Amino acid sequence: MATIESILHEKRVFPPSDEFVRHANVSGLEAYRALCDEAQQDYLAFWARLARQHIDWHKPFTHVLDETNAPFYKWFDDGELNVSWNCLDRHLATNGNKTAIIFESDEGAVTHCSYRELHAQVCRFANALKSLGVKTGDRVLIYMPMRIEAVVAMQACARIGAIHSVVFGGFSAKSVRERAINAGACVIVTADQQTRGGKQHALKTTVDEALAMGGADCVRHVVVYRHTGATIAWNTPRDRWWHELIDNQSAKCDPVWVNAEHPLFTLYTSGSTGKPKGVQHSSAGYLLGAMVSIQWIFDFKPHDIFWCTADVGWITGHTYVAYGPLAMGGTQVIFEGAPTYPDAGRFWKIIQNHKVSVFYTAPTAIRSLIKLGADLPAQYDLSSLRLLGSVGEPINPEAWMWYYTVVGQSRCPIVDTWWQTETGSHMIAPTPGAIALKPGSCTFPLPGIDAAVVDEAGHAVPPGQGGFLVIKRPFPSQLRTLWNDPERFKQTYFPKDIAGGSYYLAGDSAQRSEDGYFWIMGRTDDVLNVSGHRLGTMEVESALVANPLVAEAAVVGKPHEIKGEAIVAFVVLKGIRPQGEQAAEITATLRDWVAREIGSIARPDEIRFGDNLPKTRSGKIMRRLLRALAKGETITQDTSTLENPAILEQLNQPGR
Ligand code: WT7
Repeated sequence: MATIESILHEKRVFPPSDEFVRHANVSGLEAYRALCDEAQQDYLAFWARLARQHIDWHKPFTHVLDETNAPFYKWFDDGELNVSWNCLDRHLATNGNKTAIIFESDEGAVTHCSYRELHAQVCRFANALKSLGVKTGDRVLIYMPMRIEAVVAMQACARIGAIHSVVFGGFSAKSVRERAINAGACVIVTADQQTRGGKQHALKTTVDEALAMGGADCVRHVVVYRHTGATIAWNTPRDRWWHELIDNQSAKCDPVWVNAEHPLFTLYTSGSTGKPKGVQHSSAGYLLGAMVSIQWIFDFKPHDIFWCTADVGWITGHTYVAYGPLAMGGTQVIFEGAPTYPDAGRFWKIIQNHKVSVFYTAPTAIRSLIKLGADLPAQYDLSSLRLLGSVGEPINPEAWMWYYTVVGQSRCPIVDTWWQTETGSHMIAPTPGAIALKPGSCTFPLPGIDAAVVDEAGHAVPPGQGGFLVIKRPFPSQLRTLWNDPERFKQTYFPKDIAGGSYYLAGDSAQRSEDGYFWIMGRTDDVLNVSGHRLGTMEVESALVANPLVAEAAVVGKPHEIKGEAIVAFVVLKGIRPQGEQAAEITATLRDWVAREIGSIARPDEIRFGDNLPKTRSGKIMRRLLRALAKGETITQDTSTLENPAILEQLNQPGR
C-alpha cells in the first residue's frame, strides 16, 4: 500500500518520453496547465465548451450549472440528449463498420461486433424492453455475465430512458433482492449462468431465490439470456427468454430524448452503515466525465485497442466499458473470464492477440499475476501496448515497478487513476503526456477538478500532512443523490462541519507532497477495500449477527499481500466459545454464511472467537485494538479505558 514510507522515500520520477509527449492529446506540462487555467478563469465556460465539444445534443443547453438547491447540483439542465445515441448512432455514418467490441469468452472464442451490429442489438433489446411495458424512468436490474449482452442491456435502457442498476454477478440472492426492492425494479435482466475460470455459476437460480424471498413484487418480468444452456426453473409468464423476446423486434428504435439530468443509472456501493447506497448518476454530466477522462487520461486515439478489465458490475465497468469507449467511437476488448485461467498468462495473451494498446486493470490483479508468474509477460508480444492504467486502490511501488518495467517494458506511462463510484469518472490521475509519474501517487487532479486535502474544519493542511480528501467545486460527473435517500446523500458527502457543506467529501485520507503530488492513504470510514472492491464492515457484521449462532461481531481489515485488505471477523457466539475442531467447523459455517448473505467477495478471511469484544466502559467496541490484534501487533496502545482487558488475550489467538 502507499504507506507513509513510500511517500517519504519515493524518489523515482518517470517523465513521459519525447515520443509520447509529441503525440499526446495533452502534450506537455504547458498544455495541462493551460487547461487548468482555462477552468480556473471561467469554470462554467470551461465545462460548457467541453460539453458542446464532446456531446451531441438533441436540444442544446443554455444553463451550465444550477446551484440553487445545493448540494443537489444540476448541470446543462435545459439540454436534451440520449446517451445511447451518443454512444452508437452518431458513429454509424462514418464508422458503422468499425469494431466496437472484440469479445473473448472464458474458453477463448472471439467475436467482433461492429458499431452497426451493436446498434442493431441495442435497438432490438430496447424494443423488447418496451414490449414488456418498460417506460422512461422505470428501473431495470441487470445481473449478467461479462459479455456483450450486458452492455447491450445497459445501452438499451439508456436508449429508452429506463434507469438501470447493474448488480455484480458475484452478489447473493439477498443482495439482489435488497437492490431490486430499493430500486423498485420492474424487470430483471439475467442469464442462465455465468462462466469464469472454467466454472459455471448460477445467475437465474439466484434471481429465483431472491424473488422467492418475497417483497419484490415490483418485479414483473425476468429476462433470461441463454448462455450455457443449463437447466433452470421456469416461471410463466414472469420469465422470458432474451432470444424469443428480440426475435421479431425491429433493429430500429428511436432514442428517447431525455433531460441532461435524467438519471442514467444507479449503482449500489458500500458505505459505513449496513445498508448499501444507490449512487445515482445523471445522463449528460456523467457522459462528459467519461469522455474527457478517456481523452485526457487514456490519451484516446481512434486506432487504439482499449481494454479495461473491470466487470460491468462496478463503476469502472460502467464508465470505461459500457459507456466511455463507445461514446468516443473506440474499439475495446471485453473479456468474460478470469486472469488466471487457463493460466496466469491469459491477460498477456489477450493483449498480444488483440494488439491492445491501452490496458487498464487493478493493483490486486497485478499483484496476483506477479505471484503466479512474474516472468510470463516476457513470453508474449506486448509491443502493441502504449499506455497502462491502474484503479481501485493505492498501487504499491513494487507492483508499480513490475507493471512498468515488465508489462510496459519501460515504454508505457502508467496512469494511476483515483476516483470512486460517486465521482463517475477519473478525478486525480496523470495526463500521461504532461505529468512525470511517481510510483504510488495518482499525481494531479484533472483540469477542472478542484481537489484538496483539508482538516476537520475544511482548512487546507500543509504539504506532507494527512487530511481529508475533498473536491471543492461541483463537477459534471458527480453523483446527483442516493436513490431514495437524499438525506444520507447530504450527510455523507457534504457534511456541514466541513466548509459549511460546500465540499464533496470523498471518504479517503490523502496527503500532498511539497511538489503538489497527491498520495491516497485509504478510507477514513468503516469501508474496506478488498481486491479493489468496497465493502462496509457493518455490512459484514450484520450478515454475521443474522446467523442464529452469533451474538455479536466486529469486523476489521488487515493488510493482505494480494487483496490489499483481508477481512477479519471477531465473533462472540451465544453461550460458547468454540475451540479446536468445533471452532474450525463453525468458522467454515460462518464464512459460507456471509458469502450467501452478501456474496463471495465478503467471505471473511479469518474468524476469531471470544467471550466478549474489547469495549470501553460505555460499551463502545474498540476497533483500533481489534485492528492491531488482526495485524498481529503487540498492543502498545492505551487500554486503560477498556472494560475487560482480559479479552485481548483470547482474541489474540490467530483464527482461521
Ligand atoms: C475507493 C472507491 C474507482 C473505481 C473503482 C473503485 C479507492 C480507487 C484508487 C487509486 C488509491 C483508490 C479509494 C476510493 N481507490 N482508486 N487509484 N488509488 N485508492 O470504486 O468501489 O467506488 O471505491 O477506492 O479508497 O474511495 P469504488
